[in-house]
Amino acid sequence: MSIFSNCNFTSRTILMQSRASLKAPNESLATVRCTKVVRNVNLEKLRHNYLFPEIEARELEHKKKYPDAKIIKLGIGDTTEPIPDIITSNMAEYALALSTRKGYKGYGAEQGNKALRKAIAESFYKDLGVKDAEVFVSDGSQCDISRLQLLLGSSVSVAVQDPNFPAYMDSSVIIGQAGDFLDETLKYKNIEYMTCGPQNNFFPDFSTTSRTDVIFFCSPNNPTGHAASREQLTQLVEFALKNGSIIVYDSAYSVYIKDESPKSIYEIPGARECAIEISSFSKIAGFTGVRLGWTVVPDELLYANRVPVINDYDRIVCTCFNGASSIAQAGGLACVSPDGFKAVMSVVDYYMENAKILVDTFTSLGLVVYGGVNAPYVWVHFPGSKSWDTFSEILNKTHIITMPGSGFGPGGEGYIRVTAFGQREDILEACARLRSAFQ
Ligand SMILES: Cc1ncc(COP(=O)(O)O)c(C=O)c1O
Repeated sequence: MSIFSNCNFTSRTILMQSRASLKAPNESLATVRCTKVVRNVNLEKLRHNYLFPEIEARELEHKKKYPDAKIIKLGIGDTTEPIPDIITSNMAEYALALSTRKGYKGYGAEQGNKALRKAIAESFYKDLGVKDAEVFVSDGSQCDISRLQLLLGSSVSVAVQDPNFPAYMDSSVIIGQAGDFLDETLKYKNIEYMTCGPQNNFFPDFSTTSRTDVIFFCSPNNPTGHAASREQLTQLVEFALKNGSIIVYDSAYSVYIKDESPKSIYEIPGARECAIEISSFSKIAGFTGVRLGWTVVPDELLYANRVPVINDYDRIVCTCFNGASSIAQAGGLACVSPDGFKAVMSVVDYYMENAKILVDTFTSLGLVVYGGVNAPYVWVHFPGSKSWDTFSEILNKTHIITMPGSGFGPGGEGYIRVTAFGQREDILEACARLRSAFQ
């Protein structure tokens, strides 16, 4: 008997669901063969393709329709400015030394280069009591989100902000924390959605929020651009302490904060007993492709049985990772040097000037705009319109790619997210097109 079973319907269905753009219309069902391996039920539960590939597919379709149009991408939050020389030269020097007997190095510590862990603790958590050994260097915070899910397991209950960065939700589904997706509510069962909109100053109403084991919280927020105030974060920590919950705090955009909003959850008293913080060099230094981030797990964070969470995280990192690229870590060390930090912050300022131009443009069109002050995302309200309709209208009229707010959860319906990570000439051109199409 063949090791392949005949399973035409399933494989065809999967092809249609997950590879819509690659679908071969004449593909014969009889030629499709599949294994006897049953698909992971949790992956079966994921409702759509991950949001970003969906945007890419729509862009491709638009290109086919308008082959001569110059598309401006203000959708996916990818950086566009070159990495400052002071950082790439450190990486290049390190990489070249790998070709020498003296400079060659193999595996490093799974938790990261000691000097970098120390530098991260000193640069981003000065006076906050974060120890070098509590910093785990990684290949980016998206990967850390999944490693944390592996740490937490399938039986924990989870809360997310709504709207939210999709990786929290999708990784919760993949690990098995979520129930089925309900078409009526556009929510997964067993997940607590904490609505965050202008009606509650983009902060959950904890008087109506159920207790969960884990609370994913992102500030400055992707997608809304809201940076939680000290008072709001104090409420968050008090809520977690009262309920014995763990906060997974995502501070990937902390360097974009311009006002006095906290840049780390550890600025809030009590956070060391209830919060893990994840962060990244991606948006600090244009490392989206280089890949470098970190996670802080404080010694004081304990499970119900008093075992320190850091012990298990260390085990997860050693088993499921093996340390970040040493070349990327050389770049990270340059980023946190005084001159390197000055250089990356000038790029951050450049993006924030873009954000201001975008905010001014949408405001001049009579729209209500949030974000763009402490974060490189502009969150624009189109009352009474569906996000995907607004996305399509903007794309068709201006050839600009944005991000439909509903892709970040039902709480994002009626909004679009616009990224300030573009190059200045593209931002100016996009704003000119928007004015002429919508004024
Ligand atoms: C809030 C948030 N967290 C994490 C990430 C992932 O960052 P990384 O590139 O470090 O994986 C992103 C990327 O856009 C993000 O917006």
